[in-house]
Amino acid sequence: MRSKIVAGNWKMNKNLAETEALLTELVAKLPDTQAEVMVAPTFISLHSAVKQLESSSIEVIAQNMHFAENGAYTGEISPDMLLDIEVDTVIIGHSERRAYFGETNEILNKKVVTALYKNMRVVFCFGEKMEDRKADNHFKVVESQLKNALFSLEASAWSNIVLAYEPVWAIGTGETASPEQAQEMHAFIRKTIAQAYDTAIADTVSILYGGSVKPANAEEIFSKPDVDGGLIGGASLVADDFVAIIKAI
Ligand code: 13P
Repeated sequence: MRSKIVAGNWKMNKNLAETEALLTELVAKLPDTQAEVMVAPTFISLHSAVKQLESSSIEVIAQNMHFAENGAYTGEISPDMLLDIEVDTVIIGHSERRAYFGETNEILNKKVVTALYKNMRVVFCFGEKMEDRKADNHFKVVESQLKNALFSLEASAWSNIVLAYEPVWAIGTGETASPEQAQEMHAFIRKTIAQAYDTAIADTVSILYGGSVKPANAEEIFSKPDVDGGLIGGASLVADDFVAIIKAI
């Protein structure tokens, strides 16, 4: 059985007090669910979020980390620093990191390898740009992102990987992939993994969809057989919206 997951990526939003307030509201409104619920506040708020959610089922995860264990990397955060505050899941490869911070598939591969070596769980993001889709290159782009960043991993590593397909054109734009487009790509991702590894791995890896998931469209997207949940940006910043999306799964 694949895990169902709803994760909120807060990006560079919410200060310490706002984080505490949003988490308080979320905890109060959290519905009964079989799904794993995760939130990714900024680094500044991670430690206090972990402490605040100590007795909650909501997991606090990080938005990024460096691939080195320590050293002269001004402004960066190491995996051990995250583990030290009991954060053992990290988002790697978000399209904003690729686009604005020059993170290539090679860098992302190093981050994934370090995270797995540290026994962390990785939520690995990837997805095509609009120009790729228009040129009918979206399957090729996604395949090469997976291949270059992940397919050198040993089969056993995959139990600590969650995939998040986030078409760049759907992020923060209000435009979502249709449920059919999401299903088509998720099925393709599973087929690609089955070819590179085997069907057991392809069938057990959770594949989340991300890109303008809202209360109004979540249920239809989540109803698709290969969509195992969502990575939510804007709507995860509003407790009622995030709760509605959790209910939709
Ligand atoms: P939006 O839900 O705001 O489109 O963001 C999606 C995303 O980037 C999650 O990582």
